[in-house]
Amino acid sequence: MSWKTLEYKDGKVAFIDQTLLPGEVKYLTTSDYRVIAEAIRKLRVRGAPAIGIAAAFGVVLGALEYKNSTDLPGRIEAIIAELAATRPTAVNLFWALNRQRAVLEAAKSKSNVELIELLEAEALAIAAADERINRKIGEHGADLLQDGMSVLTHCNAGALATGAYGTALAVIRVAVEQGKRISVFADETRPLLQGARLTVWELMRENIPVTLITDNMAAAVMRMGKVQAVIVGTDRITANGDVANKIGTYGLAILAKEHNIPFYVAAPLSTIDLSLKTGSEIPIEERAPEEVTSLGGVTIAPAGVRVFNPAFDVTPAEYVTAIISEYGIAKGDWENTFREWVNRSSREP
Ligand code: MRU
Repeated sequence: MSWKTLEYKDGKVAFIDQTLLPGEVKYLTTSDYRVIAEAIRKLRVRGAPAIGIAAAFGVVLGALEYKNSTDLPGRIEAIIAELAATRPTAVNLFWALNRQRAVLEAAKSKSNVELIELLEAEALAIAAADERINRKIGEHGADLLQDGMSVLTHCNAGALATGAYGTALAVIRVAVEQGKRISVFADETRPLLQGARLTVWELMRENIPVTLITDNMAAAVMRMGKVQAVIVGTDRITANGDVANKIGTYGLAILAKEHNIPFYVAAPLSTIDLSLKTGSEIPIEERAPEEVTSLGGVTIAPAGVRVFNPAFDVTPAEYVTAIISEYGIAKGDWENTFREWVNRSSREP
């Protein structure tokens, strides 16, 4: 790939401003953790794994800013709290910040210089692992795709949403690398058009055949027999297998079931939140009304209209055919399988 979603070098984070895609590929470079927090809030950096990676580096930037503080741990705690307040649904954000908090706890007696080095090493490890993990997700998931299949995806669970490859799009990428002819239907994904702007951009750059549809076309396209699988990413999976993802995903899952099309979810283990029993416990972000009342900066609804703008929905586990992680493919028996994956991960070096 000729581009990188986010990169850390010499105390600075460079990231693509995804709000400008596909019109402009612009990298923003910053040494200010507040810019990272703002970027997450405004969706300049978005997608569950990418948010986690950005936040982990945000902690490093904050620590560097206060490197001469007499209370660096206190400063870092406050920065972690600020980053945690950016978006509520993607559990990867809290997972990554908890990893940095654990580094902090373990290094309380260390010097500021040593503590910063450890935080930096942890953020780099999170980013590097994400790349390896997504590759594995792709390898497992590709087994589910056969030559000639057409796959529908929603939102963007691609390289832009992660450290590299993506989750749902990693499955497609690996299948294509294996020589399978896979084509993709991309839902445009209102209100912010991550499908039209980002997924299409990624796939077209790699010459993976992609057809853009509006969200309300999915049912008709399925009925025409044009889709053989749905693959999406997720922001949080609960112990019972419920899946939170971009608003509109639940509707797609219902449509897939009605048309006997498998509905696959691809995610790293860090997206599985075993502390929550069911999807009803997942905090669902509500965003500004302007995201619905305007499109590409143009107002499309009468001023003052009441708007409901939940950014995510929850697909009940009964609609999910399989969940693909770096540890393999789960098909039901969700909690036991997730716990087995956690056990395997805890045995890794
Ligand atoms: O609001 P966004 O763009 O951050 O929403 C992103 C999604 O819904 C993705 O599908 C999800 O985070 C998985 S990304 C691998």
